[in-house]
Amino acid sequence: MIKGFVFDLDGVITDTAKYHYAAWKQVAHDELGIDINPTVNEGLKGVSRMDSLNVILKFGGKENAYTDTEKLEYATEKNDLYKSLIKQMTPADILPGISNFLKAITKAGYPMSLASASRNAPYIIDRLGLAEYFSAIVDPATLTKGKPDPEIFEKAADLIHTPYANTVGLEDAVAGIEGIQAAGMFAVGVGKPEVLGKADLLFPDTAHLDLAKIEAAFTSQRG
Ligand code: G6P
Ligand code: MG
Repeated sequence: MIKGFVFDLDGVITDTAKYHYAAWKQVAHDELGIDINPTVNEGLKGVSRMDSLNVILKFGGKENAYTDTEKLEYATEKNDLYKSLIKQMTPADILPGISNFLKAITKAGYPMSLASASRNAPYIIDRLGLAEYFSAIVDPATLTKGKPDPEIFEKAADLIHTPYANTVGLEDAVAGIEGIQAAGMFAVGVGKPEVLGKADLLFPDTAHLDLAKIEAAFTSQRG
């Protein structure tokens, strides 16, 4: 029986990936002399700020070129740029189907929490006008490991007091699906089967998310 839901933010509730990409692209080009592309960007999804910088540096063959202080400066510069981009966000940036899906979950009485690696998550949820739906948001500063480690999903379930085996996690990234499953939760993916084939249930996009289908799949797979 399902007792609660834990949600990823970027790529599931709203498309902030384009803003992360734009900000990293600029910092990588201007400060590091590295030109990133959409393939590199795929590897930044669900990955923490500093780990994203490390992925970019590795791509550019510069993983040992900078001190920790310099790296912190670049990460801060990226975040300042990112913050200036997300300032324009409004409820119109909620992905299709998400508002109705959150309403249906609330109506059914399931608690929800947010398991996003982004330190900007509370601000974004507020800009989107969705704060009322989430009982709790995991503070990524309290985490010792990033996705695919299950820690963030376990904390998100702990915050809404749901046993992991009765918790559904929603994700658009491979690392996220792996983390949800490593926590013993039921993993719902949003995306392509080539990428998220491991998910316990997969929807092609957010517009197709359907609570009744999730409940039916959960019951048939877990009872
Ligand atoms: C999410 C995004 C990543 C981002 C991370 C940290 O997981 O998918 O692309 O790097 O959050 O975000 P932040 O807002 O803290 O820099
Ligand atoms: Mg995501």
